[in-house]
Amino acid sequence: MAKEMKVTPWEVSGHIDYEKLVKSFGTQHVTPQLLRRIEKAAGELHFMLRRKIFFSHRDMDWILDKAEKGEKFVLYTGRGPSGDTHIGHIMPWIFCKWLQDKFDTELYFQLTDDEKFLHSDLSLEETNRLAYENALDVIALGFDPEKTFLFVDTDYGKTMYKIAVQVAKHVTFSTAKAVFGFENSTNIGMAFYPAMQAATAFLPSVLKGKKIPVLIPAAIDQDPYWRVTRDVAEKLGYYKPAAIHNTFLPGLQGPDSKMSASKPDSAIFTTDNPRDARKKIMKAFSGGAGTLAEHRKHGGNPDVDTSYQYLYNVFEEDDEKIKEIRNAYKSGAMSAGEIKEILAKKVERFLKEHQERRERAKHRIDRFMLKD
Ligand code: TYM
Repeated sequence: MAKEMKVTPWEVSGHIDYEKLVKSFGTQHVTPQLLRRIEKAAGELHFMLRRKIFFSHRDMDWILDKAEKGEKFVLYTGRGPSGDTHIGHIMPWIFCKWLQDKFDTELYFQLTDDEKFLHSDLSLEETNRLAYENALDVIALGFDPEKTFLFVDTDYGKTMYKIAVQVAKHVTFSTAKAVFGFENSTNIGMAFYPAMQAATAFLPSVLKGKKIPVLIPAAIDQDPYWRVTRDVAEKLGYYKPAAIHNTFLPGLQGPDSKMSASKPDSAIFTTDNPRDARKKIMKAFSGGAGTLAEHRKHGGNPDVDTSYQYLYNVFEEDDEKIKEIRNAYKSGAMSAGEIKEILAKKVERFLKEHQERRERAKHRIDRFMLKD
């Protein structure tokens, strides 16, 4: 039997039923009507919207209302620096870059060295170092330095703490326990931390001295934070942030497998040597039949095939091409080895280019960082 689904900001496991998450989290589906509105406002639809990879939202209509009236909204997203960046992490960032280009918006990007220190065995020195490493991946995606503001929690504490205490005063321990599953053994740093993640949704308003609409693109695991943030927003005189949620990219070991920094073969990391990434892809779970003869006869299953999933979610934007690959693989005309080869080539090229941009980002990082 499939393992029971668990989706929290710290653990995603089991077979994910997205329909069930929309219901239990109380979010809205991304509907064809909403997509038409986004298309009208942006001039086109990003492939992650066309494919319902961004499948759920809170108040996206309201963001579009604001945009239509000419009121600027800003983007907020982030990363918990617990290791190297993997391809799943960059999905919401790729989408943010598109939103920044289409809507000419600012992006606020939080790197939570405090959260990952509190939640793991890593030292604060290490999570702080990783935060700056992960920041290079964000910058390498091509964000506009004039409109993109990254910060590391413990290095921007003076500004952040003032907002976070305001939030914390309005969140009871019983709410925090119900939303995040804290127990008596949870350290009190973890109990406070949600106030830091909520605070960033109000940071643009604090910095600009007026109420600013905020849209948060992130995978759905982060939604518990937005529930708390939205609950306190109006009490503090801010707008409730809107959110748009993406699905999870699976690990390389198959549909319900997880990516983990401690298991190098479970994921492709942005810092992987392209040749090593190719080897990982060749070893990854495939939806092909046992032998080539059987595959030619019965075809493969793209819905569980790792290479197909990586192409669909990240590396093949062209709808026609992805459809061709799907059909060829399903019919057996394309072998498991061939689909792996298509992905490996794309990943090698991406890593090579990303790593060059990442090197250049080392000289530009100061232009992006907010400090007290
Ligand atoms: P973190 O570091 O766990 O994840 C970074 C971003 O990646 C998304 N994500 C994924 N997306 C697709 N497939 C996956 N397998 C996958 N795994 C993770 C996450 O949803 C997230 O968007 N607490 C946060 C840091 C944070 C933050 C934020 C994130 C602070 N403020 C605002 C998003 C928005 C964290 O540990 O993320």
